[in-house]
Amino acid sequence: MTDAPLPKGPLPHAPRLGLADGARIPQLGFGLYKVPAADATGLAIAAIDAGYRHLDTAAFYANEAEVGEAVRQTDVARDELFVTSKVWKDDNGYDATLRAFDASMARFGIEALDLYLIHWPVPSTDRYVDTWRALVRLQADGRVRSIGVSNFHVHHVDRIVDETGVAPVVNQVELHPWLPQRELRADHAARGIRVEAWSPLARGRVLDDPTLAELAAKHGRSPAQVVLRWHVQQGVIAIPKASSPARLRENLDVFDFELDDADLAAIASLETGERTGRDPDLD
Ligand SMILES: NC(=O)c1ccc[n+]([C@@H]2O[C@H](COP(=O)([O-])OP(=O)(O)OC[C@H]3O[C@@H](n4cnc5c(N)ncnc54)[C@H](OP(=O)(O)O)[C@@H]3O)[C@@H](O)[C@H]2O)c1
Repeated sequence: MTDAPLPKGPLPHAPRLGLADGARIPQLGFGLYKVPAADATGLAIAAIDAGYRHLDTAAFYANEAEVGEAVRQTDVARDELFVTSKVWKDDNGYDATLRAFDASMARFGIEALDLYLIHWPVPSTDRYVDTWRALVRLQADGRVRSIGVSNFHVHHVDRIVDETGVAPVVNQVELHPWLPQRELRADHAARGIRVEAWSPLARGRVLDDPTLAELAAKHGRSPAQVVLRWHVQQGVIAIPKASSPARLRENLDVFDFELDDADLAAIASLETGERTGRDPDLD
């Protein structure tokens, strides 16, 4: 990437993708895992000013209050913003999830949430079906617009659907060029569940790959932009994290170039199956 200053002013917004419940989610969002609370309001506002309309946080990230502060401070209307949070592992279970949701909303200081996810299934405690029933109730009560899951393998999704009759509209999973989640994406495409990529840049670790450097040079873009464009062209939602306004802008600026079939094949060759996080079945 060149060191030339990026142009000022908002970038074009990411397009919105339809969810099975009728809501529309901006395809690129700003993920706030490991954004310290002290920085979260400022960075979330910088993201909104750059053109982001989608913020991804969680109770576990300990910055819901600061994200809520950004939502309340910005001039952008609340209904233009899409805010996601997640119930943490320790709060899986019906009553605990309802209490955790109330605690999250008290921290946010906003009326309703756009998307609430089960953060991890934690199969060893076998409470994720009850957690899902609580999310179904929160949606019926109008407290959250859309409900989904995170870190669910297909068999976890099958189980909540079998036992409750309600399918998630989103599954947020680890997904990047090393771990493209082909089978899960094919399954979810067939059943109308949107796939959302966490650690879309493999926590930054995939960016040193020489293939990505070549593609970046070919398109006059950065490796991060090539990877985010790859997500976009596959119809995946991605929520890259960044710690500076310049990187936030760089990561959103991917809607004016196109990877061709050879580029996509080159990125497909990077698949190793390597995870940066845990296999959800091991908890
Ligand atoms: N559901 C889950 O279990 C789960 C788990 C993990 C993450 N997530 C979500 O996914 C989001 C993103 O995942 P992540 O933070 O783990 O990883 P990521 O977005 O793949 O990568 C973030 C790393 O890449 C660097 N980076 C960002 N943009 C860059 C650019 N343009 N050029 C070079 N380096 C760049 C960042 O550095 P700087 O910070 O120094 O800019 C940071 O070190 C999280 O914030 C969170 O919202 C969800």
